[in-house]
Amino acid sequence: MYIFKAAVIGAGTMGAEIAQVISFSGLPVILKDVDQGMLDKGMKTIREIYQSRVDKGKMSAGEMASKLSLVEAALTYDGFGDVDIVIEAVPEKMGIKKAVFKELQACVPETTIFASNTSALSISEMAAATDRPAKVIGMHYFNPAHVMKLVEIIPGLDTSQETVDDVVMFTESLRKVAVVVQECPGFLVNRLLMPYLGEATYCLQEGAASMTDIDAALVDFGMPMGPFTLMDMTGIDVCAYVGKYLNEEYGTRATLPVLYGKMVEVGRLGEKAGKGFYSYGDEGDEAMQAILASFPKDPNSKFGVERVFYPMINEAVLALQEHIASPNDIDMATIAGLGMTYHGDRKGPLAIADEIGLDVVLNGLQELQKQYGERFRPAQLLKTKVRAGHLGVKTHRGFMEYA
Ligand SMILES: NC(=O)c1ccc[n+]([C@@H]2O[C@H](COP(=O)([O-])OP(=O)(O)OC[C@H]3O[C@@H](n4cnc5c(N)ncnc54)[C@H](O)[C@@H]3O)[C@@H](O)[C@H]2O)c1
Repeated sequence: MYIFKAAVIGAGTMGAEIAQVISFSGLPVILKDVDQGMLDKGMKTIREIYQSRVDKGKMSAGEMASKLSLVEAALTYDGFGDVDIVIEAVPEKMGIKKAVFKELQACVPETTIFASNTSALSISEMAAATDRPAKVIGMHYFNPAHVMKLVEIIPGLDTSQETVDDVVMFTESLRKVAVVVQECPGFLVNRLLMPYLGEATYCLQEGAASMTDIDAALVDFGMPMGPFTLMDMTGIDVCAYVGKYLNEEYGTRATLPVLYGKMVEVGRLGEKAGKGFYSYGDEGDEAMQAILASFPKDPNSKFGVERVFYPMINEAVLALQEHIASPNDIDMATIAGLGMTYHGDRKGPLAIADEIGLDVVLNGLQELQKQYGERFRPAQLLKTKVRAGHLGVKTHRGFMEYA
């Protein structure tokens, strides 16, 4: 099915930018909200994104006007009669999302695809509440949506292959990287990211190293920014919320450092609050140091890049073992979603594991498990690979294929 017209529901942080991305590709898009103020703010965001392109000489004022004319702001469902795809970006509450899809059913053709930008909620559950489960799918953009290349495409249990193909094609027409991910808590990128961020936070909380040292070591390793800089950008409340959800779903290995809760309690929510792990206003870092001093130092806790990065490799192997995505897609998602590199090349956790050596990674995880516990328990598939002699680049067999 070719998509000629789209609609986005919810003109907040994500919805406005998603509508901008769609209009930029040349497609007409309706941006709908229930709140005139949010709608105005969303339209302002879209104008600003285009204006900054004009200011940088990437677009003429005429082109900006023509792209802007593709976006129609709406408070009602008038004009939805010929929409081919609707992407909902309303608040992360299952009840609101189900209610929006119910309303839409009465206003759009029965062939219209219902996509959800949910970060975590079940696509299958949303689909079951509609008259078209085969046409419901997750389309998870990353923030800021007009910059981030990755879109995770998540079919629910009843989503048809045709819908998956249509949405992948649509995503690519938006000049984004589409990665199909089977439904699981955290989907792919957040699932792989949280154990890494969590372990960096354990190192800090236990006094193994400072934020700046941990950040510098991970940037040196190949991350575009350190874990504490990234958490401050994302929001400590968001990290705490996603982390708690993954802990409920995955159990012991997704145990959460208590430092998150402490920071949320005192309003250190990251950049948006002017203070998180780092301070962004006039305040120095004494208050954060006082919080850290309130935790007992663990003399046996040691920081190393392996301790922070191996949990991401292990989670990638667990996702692979559960057939959540192919090895190439897992790495592609982390490259496009997190900007990972290794020794100057764009590589994801599975290709990096192949380079390090799967035996080395397994041995490292087993040592970490002995010292810090169950969250480091190596994935079964990693053990099987090592037993089979698939040790990565050095044996020409690992997670990736080698000539
Ligand atoms: N913010 C992020 O970083 C991020 C990243 C990826 C995915 N998401 C997901 O995107 C979705 C939206 O998040 P956000 O941060 O843009 O939220 P937001 O709070 O900024 O925006 C939500 C918008 O939805 C509107 N809304 C509420 N009920 C509505 C209804 N019934 N009909 C139409 N509009 C309605 C609100 O007025 C608001 O403008 C959530 O599911 C979130 O989990 C967010």
